This record gives sequence, C-alpha cells and structure tokens, in this order.
Amino acid sequence: MRAVVVSAPGGPSVLEHRDVPVPLVQPGSVRVAVRSIGVNFRDVQQRRGAAPDLTYPFVPGSDFAGEVLEAGEGVRTLKAGDRVFGVSLSGAYAEQVVAPAVVVYPVPQGLDFDLAAALPVAGLSASFLLTTAGLRAGMTAVTYAAAGGLGCFLGGVLSEAGVRSIGLVSSAEKAAVARAAGHSDVVIYREADPVEAVRALTDGAGVDVVLDSVAGPGFARSFAMLRSEGVVVLCGRSAGAPDLATVYPEFIESRRNLALRDFYLATYTTGHFAEVPGRLETLAGGIRSGRIRIPVRSVPFLEVRRAHELLESGATTGKVVLHV
Ligand SMILES: NC(=O)c1ccc[n+]([C@@H]2O[C@H](COP(=O)([O-])OP(=O)(O)OC[C@H]3O[C@@H](n4cnc5c(N)ncnc54)[C@H](OP(=O)(O)O)[C@@H]3O)[C@@H](O)[C@H]2O)c1
Repeated sequence: MRAVVVSAPGGPSVLEHRDVPVPLVQPGSVRVAVRSIGVNFRDVQQRRGAAPDLTYPFVPGSDFAGEVLEAGEGVRTLKAGDRVFGVSLSGAYAEQVVAPAVVVYPVPQGLDFDLAAALPVAGLSASFLLTTAGLRAGMTAVTYAAAGGLGCFLGGVLSEAGVRSIGLVSSAEKAAVARAAGHSDVVIYREADPVEAVRALTDGAGVDVVLDSVAGPGFARSFAMLRSEGVVVLCGRSAGAPDLATVYPEFIESRRNLALRDFYLATYTTGHFAEVPGRLETLAGGIRSGRIRIPVRSVPFLEVRRAHELLESGATTGKVVLHV
C-alpha cells in the first residue's frame, strides 16, 4: 500500500509517497481502508521536526475516516464493512491504518468521510478547550486563527455555549468565514491593533479568556487583552514557541492576577478518555444542526505537499482533508 513517509525534518518536499507493507491487525485493533485524512497543523510541526519525541522515518497524520477491512481478536464493537472514523498519534497519511478499536467510532449519521476525518483533533480540542478554560454562558473569549480548522470548531462550540467570541483573522475573506462559523465579533489584525480592538469591543475591560493557538514572538499581547483574573490558554504554536521572555510586564508585573494555562489534546485526552465518544457525538450533532459550520477543502492524497504548503502559508480556511 501507499503511505506518506517522512525520513528527515524539513519542508513539504520531505513528504514522500512510498510503498510500505500493509499493517497487520492486532488483537483489540481494526484495519481500516482510509478514504479521507484530516490535515492538522500538528502534522506540519511534526514534519518540520518541531514536535518532541519523534523518531524517523515516520508516517504523519492523526485523523482518518474509511471502512473497516478487518477486526482483530476481541473486537466486538466493529466489523468489516463498517464506516468509521478515528484518531491516532500518527500513521494516518496512508491507504490503510491499524488503530485500537477504542479510538475508532462509527461515522455519525449525516456526515460523509471528509467531514468525519475533519472532526477528531480540531473538534475535540474545541470541545475540551471550552471546559478546561472554564468558559460559560455570558463570558467573553478571544480566539486566534478564528477562520482555521480549530478556529471554526471553536466558533460553533463557543456560540452554542453562549460565550461571546472575538475572533482574530488576517483578512476580510477570513473574517467572513469566522463570522459564519459563529464568532460574535471579528478583528482583522493586519488592519487594526488587536489589543486596542479587543479593549474597544469590551468597553476597556478585556476578556475572560484568550485562546492563543498562534503564540510566537507576539505572545505577550494575549495577556494585554485579558481582564483582571483572566486566563490565557496556550493551545498552539503556529507562529513558533511562545516568547516567554517578553510576557513578564503584562503577565506578572501588571499585578492583575492573570493566569497562563497550557492545553495539549493528546495528554489531556488521557485523563478524559471516557468523555470522548459523547463529545464526538455532540460535535456531530452540532454539524448536523448547522450550529457548527466547518468549510472542508479536499485535496487529492497524491498532492499532500500542496496541502501542507497551503496550510502553513495561512492560505486555508476551515479544514483541509486529503482524499484517498
Ligand atoms: N493543543 C492542542 O492539542 C491542539 C489541538 C488542535 C490544534 N492545535 C493548534 O491550533 C493551531 C491551529 O491548528 P489548525 O490545524 O486548525 O490550523 P489552522 O488554524 O487551520 O491554520 C493555521 C492558521 O494560523 C494562523 N497563523 C498565524 N500565524 C501563523 C504563522 N506564522 N504560520 C502559519 N499560520 C499562522 C493563520 O490564520 P490567519 O491568517 O487568520 O492568521 C493560519 O490560517 C495550530 O497551532 C495547532 O497546532 C493544538
């Protein structure tokens, strides 16, 4: 079978289609013929070598959807022919994957393979971020990259929960996508200073929570957007590692009782594993009802390099999926 193999860190050209052995089904696992693969910024970071504990060569990819070919010994919930989707730590950029049956679920009613493959990492992150950030109805949040994959899921999840979200985006086109996804207000950060804009939108008070998936050299501004006792949740590093050296004045020296919280889905899920099926079903229900609106752009599996180029250049909105 064909899989995308990364042998060394680098740009999109290190993504190589190779013939690899078909993975053997293990007890408790299923072998799936992959139809759609969700592309996440995490895959880009792994390809670049920016993810910890990675050994080469490896096959990237977490989100997949397709049909069960074979169920391993002891698997009672799934059988050959079932339409499923799932999430793994890596290995999804392939024509077939073997994954533990506990992380493979029937495709929810009303979703096609592309939408199902778009759901796990971004959808679960949005769902868990709402909880871990302590966001409730009546509160206000800032969402970075509000028109992206995670950002569109957050637009739906936050508005459904009655949270006002101020989305940050780079362009007018993305502003329209972010609004359609459910963000109450949108700031085009290339046209207006985001800190001043957020303060103006909150009558000078600042927001309860900033969901910062971009970080990088501008990380300090997230603290400047907070009200007293507010929380920055660091949930990504699209612009690089957060520059912690510059946060001291806004975070500590301002003496506004602010907090910084880290969120990482893979480890967070370990402590909340029993909640995953219910949260996925709730997210699928949100998509069916139109409360969660995720534009999905499908790119052929053979054009995986182009998919990465589009995602890391900021050229995409919503989710990108690879069509096998
Ligand atoms: N913590 C977790 O467990 C977890 C889970 C899911 C996702 N994430 C993180 O959340 C972020 C979003 O993931 P995603 O897959 O949904 O991607 P995405 O938001 O669809 O794409 C990234 C977006 O980030 C913005 N951006 C700002 N600075 C950028 C830069 N220097 N390079 C590239 N993009 C930049 C761009 O939007 P604008 O043009 O509007 O600025 C771009 O479209 C990633 O950092 C990802 O690792 C983390």
